[in-house]
Amino acid sequence: MLDQGHISPHLPPEIARRRTFAIISHPDAGKTTLTEKLLLYGGAIQMAGQVRAKGEARRTRSDFMKMEQERGISVSASAMSFEHEGHWFNLVDTPGHEDFSEDTYRTLTAVDAAVMVIDGAKGVESQTRKLFEVCRLRDMPILTFCNKMDRESRDTFEIIDEIQESLAIDVAPASWPIGKGRDFIGCYDLIYDRLALMDRADRNVRAQAVQLDGLDDPRAAEHVPADLLAELREEVEMARGLLPAFDRKAFLEGTLTPIWFGSAINSFGVQELMRGLAQYAPPPRPCPAASREVRPEEPAVTGFVFKVQANMDPKHRDRVAFLRLCSGHFRRGMKLRHVRSGKTMTIANPVLFMAAERELADDAWAGDIIGVPNHGQLRIGDALTEGEELRFTGIPAFAPELLQSVRAGDPMKAKHLEKALTQFAEEGAAKLFKPAVGSGFIVGVVGALQFEVLASRIEQEYGLPVRLEPTQFNGARWISGPREAVEAFIKANRGHMAYDHDGDPVYMTRMQWDLDRAARDHPEVRLSAVKETH
Ligand code: G4P
Repeated sequence: MLDQGHISPHLPPEIARRRTFAIISHPDAGKTTLTEKLLLYGGAIQMAGQVRAKGEARRTRSDFMKMEQERGISVSASAMSFEHEGHWFNLVDTPGHEDFSEDTYRTLTAVDAAVMVIDGAKGVESQTRKLFEVCRLRDMPILTFCNKMDRESRDTFEIIDEIQESLAIDVAPASWPIGKGRDFIGCYDLIYDRLALMDRADRNVRAQAVQLDGLDDPRAAEHVPADLLAELREEVEMARGLLPAFDRKAFLEGTLTPIWFGSAINSFGVQELMRGLAQYAPPPRPCPAASREVRPEEPAVTGFVFKVQANMDPKHRDRVAFLRLCSGHFRRGMKLRHVRSGKTMTIANPVLFMAAERELADDAWAGDIIGVPNHGQLRIGDALTEGEELRFTGIPAFAPELLQSVRAGDPMKAKHLEKALTQFAEEGAAKLFKPAVGSGFIVGVVGALQFEVLASRIEQEYGLPVRLEPTQFNGARWISGPREAVEAFIKANRGHMAYDHDGDPVYMTRMQWDLDRAARDHPEVRLSAVKETH
């Protein structure tokens, strides 16, 4: 195990060996396949194919709804932990569908590094770019995996150039592909000076590695056909001259990404990527809170909820809150303070997700993600501590871009409906707005598919048929500022005012003109499309 002492000299070894990361990619680039192979190498699953069910389920709308209903799968796959060569990895899943990007943004607050998967033929795609920007806002270290090298792919320099230019980040090659498409035989590992050769016949074997002493080593010629070797030598020489060398500091600051080339489906390049994560990705980083920064080595346990998911059994209102531990050594049965309510919670049945299985977490450390079953007390952004009044910052809620009004089919059931909607809002599945004037509710989402999932879940889980209809509003802004100014604003705009599920005031807009007018008439009030939880 590489000594990380130089970047985090005070970390207890259990924390120093942890790597908590997410995979970001455009749909179809190979995230599910890569996840599966990582878990396979990590020994967390026995057979390739267990994660696949999920990737496929996502493909069509009806399957997607089914998957949402069978949330067992997605709950267990939200965070997966595995051990490999002395390191403990926590892989936090980001939902693949672009309609659920808000969930993804929040997930990225819980990790210390990201693996960016790109398709070698398609390069940087839209969803990758969006997610990359979120990582950049957080200065997150990013490792790049260029996938599908077994198929026709773009020129290696062209891929690297595109990443450098479109994402404005330096790219340092950690490996270099040998041959293209059908002629792709493997990679040259620039860090360890060795060949990694792909076995097309068996998709689940580890690549054969051949240690070299430079590319002129005669052993290279024993494994690589002469024309490919000549090309490799030339390209590697050019790459070394033209491209930046790996620089750990720049990587940790998020300004340089190492790139590995591989083929997830052939398990190729996955080992190298894992080694890269172990060696270069940071151990748990400090978490920002309003009053101070919480360091992982602090002995007192702290953590924040970044995701809430309804539990497997829809008949029970149980939920699982996903907690990123920010500091300390957690033990099962601990009593922690739920800072928002001031109450003490005994964490009796925390869950650790080992791929397809859940296990009771007897023990967990800063950096780990544990699932805390609860009856709705825990919301996104909530802090759990050993007593300190902490408020973790930076967990965003975005103004929805699509709004609809929602009514219960049976008007007598309005209270039930409010309860259901509040639950979904707390889970982060939709935003709920209660207009200040009149009855009824407005729900807001980021992607249209969420409306359908919402309506279907309200009907399934609460037995409430609902009608979703267009509203006059198409935007929402949280308002803040000096108390008197906010009160004056609310008074002057009653017809536009609503309250979110936390009771915070929201200004509902119909067009840009509303925003311009509000800004002109109430210069002291800040209108914001992003709300940091609490
Ligand atoms: P995603 O989660 O990012 O959406 O991608 P996923 O892993 O589901 O992969 C998308 C498609 O790309 C799948 O094909 C998968 O098999 C294929 N794929 C993944 N890695 C590689 C690779 O290294 N090389 C090649 N050639 N293909 C790869 P599919 O046809 O949609 O599904 P399936 O029928 O193969 O399961």
